[in-house]
Amino acid sequence: MNSMNSLNSTHAMSPSASAGMQGQVQGHVQCQGHSPWQLQATRIAAIREEAPGVRTYSLTFAPRGPRPSFRFAAGQFNMVSLPGIGEAAISITSDPESLSGIAHTVHAVGSVTRALARLEVGDELLLRGPYGVPWPLADLRDRDLVLVAGGLGLASLLSAIAFCMTHRGDYGRITVLSGAKTPVYLLATNHHHRWRDHGIDVHCIVTDPDPRWRGPVGLVSMLLDSLTIDPDATSLLCCGPEPMMIAVAEQANARGIAREQIFVSIERLMGCASGLCGLCQLGPFFVCRDGPVFSYDRIARWLAVPHL
Ligand SMILES: Cc1cc2nc3c(=O)[nH]c(=O)nc-3n(C[C@H](O)[C@H](O)[C@H](O)COP(=O)(O)OP(=O)(O)OC[C@H]3O[C@@H](n4cnc5c(N)ncnc54)[C@H](O)[C@@H]3O)c2cc1C
Ligand code: FES
Repeated sequence: MNSMNSLNSTHAMSPSASAGMQGQVQGHVQCQGHSPWQLQATRIAAIREEAPGVRTYSLTFAPRGPRPSFRFAAGQFNMVSLPGIGEAAISITSDPESLSGIAHTVHAVGSVTRALARLEVGDELLLRGPYGVPWPLADLRDRDLVLVAGGLGLASLLSAIAFCMTHRGDYGRITVLSGAKTPVYLLATNHHHRWRDHGIDVHCIVTDPDPRWRGPVGLVSMLLDSLTIDPDATSLLCCGPEPMMIAVAEQANARGIAREQIFVSIERLMGCASGLCGLCQLGPFFVCRDGPVFSYDRIARWLAVPHL
């Protein structure tokens, strides 16, 4: 039996069984009252241009209004669906506890995301979800948090930041380190003020500065280097390009943060998003079901295998 068949026979389960298992193991959220297979109609209530080719879509559930049955946890994603074109996995960027709808921040890179970029305020958008294992924020109470983002990787961390602001007293020091290629691709800079008002430190760095840039220049790992941390009390959450996440995780581990306290969010091409098709397989894991958030001690071995 090849490894795929073996995995399918061992791990394939219905979405509800999968949801139940994840719910027990991870304590994360699935929607009450509807199947995660079911396409849900949303309406685009607002669009914000974040950077060239990057837009944030604020969505309300049809009929217009709050989202009575849609619940998600920080770090989960939806499959955004454009009939006749396809589906793409997209992180949910809004506050998990807000009832005023949800948001997705999307970089137009391929068929689905470019078609999405042609939609306007008022258009309908279909999605299914939420899927995946979220950031383990409930398990990290009382700890210092360092959230490290590379480029659009911040999308997956925005909901975690919103959650931490609401529950600020449950956590120790919180630091956000955000890196991008150019200043214009530093996302959510309009939120920095609010984050700082909630006692969250924010540091940004770019690799290709423009003439107006006054901040540090280099890789986001440089910011981690210069941060004072108590390694025994610190957990690190990281999302960005894979080589960046490996570099940051190794550096954090070298500074004394245990691999079990380092969490990364992995991207793979998604099909079913429900642990059935195997498209997102990474070693023994299906990223859609066992991730996208993994502790580094579980996933490091498989990230180290080229082209896996
Ligand atoms: C759990 C998860 C969460 C994600 N969250 C987000 C999110 O919040 N926002 C978002 O924009 N994307 C997100 N992605 C990435 C998104 O699913 C992919 O970019 C997806 O392939 C886009 O679909 P598409 O049909 O537009 O592009 P495709 O037609 O599948 O890809 C077209 C081309 O784009 C290239 N490409 C794919 N992804 C990227 C990328 N990230 N950057 C540059 N080039 C790329 C491919 O190599 C290919 O050549 C997430 C992925 C996962 C697995
Ligand atoms: S198993 Fe189908 S996308 Fe993960």
